[in-house]
Amino acid sequence: MKGNFYRLKGRHVSVTLLVLTLTTIFLWAWEKNPFVTTLQSAQEQFNFHTSEFVVDTPKGSSFDSLTPNEHVQETDSDPTRSEDSKIPEKEFDASNFTNSVVPEMKDGDADREPSSKIKDCNYSKGRWVADSRRPLYSGFECKQWLSEMWACRLTQRTDFSFEGYRWQPENCKMLEFERSVFLRRMQDRTIAFIGDSLGRQQFQSLLCMASGGEWREDIENVGKEYGLVKARGAIRPDGWAYRFSNTNTTILYYWSASLADLEPLNTTDKATDVAMHLDRAPAFMRRFLHRFDVLVLNTGHHWNRGKITGNRWVMYVNGKPLKDRKLLEIGNAKNFTVHSVARWLDSQLPSHPRLKAFFRTISPRHFRNGDWNTGGNCDNTTPLTGGSEISQDESSDPVIAAAVKGTNITLLDITALSELRDEGHISRYSVKATTGVNDCLHWCLPGIPDTWNELLIAQV
Ligand SMILES: *[C@@H]1O[C@H](CO)[C@@H](O)[C@H](O)[C@H]1NC(C)=O
Ligand SMILES: *[C@@H]1O[C@H](CO)[C@@H](O)[C@H](O)[C@H]1NC(C)=O
Ligand SMILES: *[C@@H]1O[C@H](CO)[C@@H](O)[C@H](O)[C@H]1NC(C)=O
Ligand SMILES: *[C@@H]1O[C@H](CO)[C@@H](O)[C@H](O)[C@H]1NC(C)=O
Ligand SMILES: *[C@@H]1O[C@H](CO)[C@@H](O)[C@H](O)[C@H]1NC(C)=O
Ligand SMILES: *[C@@H]1O[C@H](CO)[C@@H](O)[C@H](O)[C@H]1NC(C)=O
Repeated sequence: MKGNFYRLKGRHVSVTLLVLTLTTIFLWAWEKNPFVTTLQSAQEQFNFHTSEFVVDTPKGSSFDSLTPNEHVQETDSDPTRSEDSKIPEKEFDASNFTNSVVPEMKDGDADREPSSKIKDCNYSKGRWVADSRRPLYSGFECKQWLSEMWACRLTQRTDFSFEGYRWQPENCKMLEFERSVFLRRMQDRTIAFIGDSLGRQQFQSLLCMASGGEWREDIENVGKEYGLVKARGAIRPDGWAYRFSNTNTTILYYWSASLADLEPLNTTDKATDVAMHLDRAPAFMRRFLHRFDVLVLNTGHHWNRGKITGNRWVMYVNGKPLKDRKLLEIGNAKNFTVHSVARWLDSQLPSHPRLKAFFRTISPRHFRNGDWNTGGNCDNTTPLTGGSEISQDESSDPVIAAAVKGTNITLLDITALSELRDEGHISRYSVKATTGVNDCLHWCLPGIPDTWNELLIAQV
């Protein structure tokens, strides 16, 4: 049954070579007060944390602009620690299945079929249930992959009841996650996340899940293969790529907060504006698509005026500055970009037959009694006070849902189910806690993004 479930089609891949453009990344000079807007160099736009977290006008602010200090905080827990480790082979553990299949099927035949074939199976409808087998890894131990700022077990937080739940889709069969099974199934495959910091959370989560959260010497840093190297003076690269030696499984992340292609207008001028090509997928994605077997996109929290002007992003369409007033409106520009990227990706699928593409819906924020910069909080620690079940038929992220509709891209719809988990954020244990700022955007790990990965794995 499982062999069937995990059956993968080996197919031919046609390879297109493209040319790498290296972007110079300059030292990022952040000032002491992280909430004051600074001007950034164009090069910094390519250095993801800079643009990820910096810059916002007081008005159009969104939360993740508040966490610039994480650069500093995070240096120590940078996963590049495993950089030079190429330790040979523990024997690959021919796997160890749990019998914790949770079939909730209408159709008796369904247990011979991949879950996607089950009638009426919708992964985003279902309920949260307490499960003593959660979390899937230890937040104390997965230091190799978890950023310190997201490892709530390493903070003063004392309540971890949020870790003890799993998502049970209504009519879908879910196999219990088993890392050796997962890795074997992903043998010789590459799983890529492209998106904002929430995409990075999902990436770190998957690394912890796949490694069991144990320190592993047999996971190789292969960032160089993807041009993901820290430029001189930069705080970090634009992303990371790691390979599990035994199964030759690669998991990577690339920072692209808007999913528009960014291009500095003057490469020698630090203060230059950056063209944000709304009708062009990120160069990284176009260049490496042929190497991906699973691709998970996301965007959302960077689509506000503060981030766009702060980052000196200038909207372009057709290679020219955008003049159309209507399209310049943020909501329209986002919709246009998301549709453009989805359309382009879908057009690539026939020539990339082994690629399975996903577009993840937006991860909800939970600021209460204010926004991120006006004392908003998410202090509740009791799970599921707002209910445990989702039965709606419409996505809570209609923009992404509409963009993938009619394509062969799969919607990874996690918005509504994550909406029920307000207690799972970093909350007052944010690195900004001393300034009274709570993080009700990012999630504790282990935590909710683990569930996104379980739903991803079930649909791969
Ligand atoms: C499964 O793995 C656990 C620990 O990882 C081990 O104790 C157990 O013996 C294994 N079971 C089988 C059937 O291999
Ligand atoms: C590892 O996987 C890649 C595909 O992702 C494949 O091209 C390569 O040959 C594999 N390497 C080995 C040593 O099997
Ligand atoms: C690019 O910026 C440099 C430095 O500010 C300036 O000297 C140069 O004229 C600019 N090039 C263009 C094409 O604007
Ligand atoms: C989003 O863009 C698509 C494609 O351009 C368009 O068909 C749709 O009407 C737009 N939706 C909204 C809400 O603007
Ligand atoms: C599943 O439900 C979600 C919302 O709960 C919706 O967005 C999606 O279209 C549904 N998928 C299918 C295949 O019905
Ligand atoms: C999806 O892929 C199948 C083949 O795998 C193809 O027949 C179909 O036309 C595609 N659908 C769209 C909307 O591209």
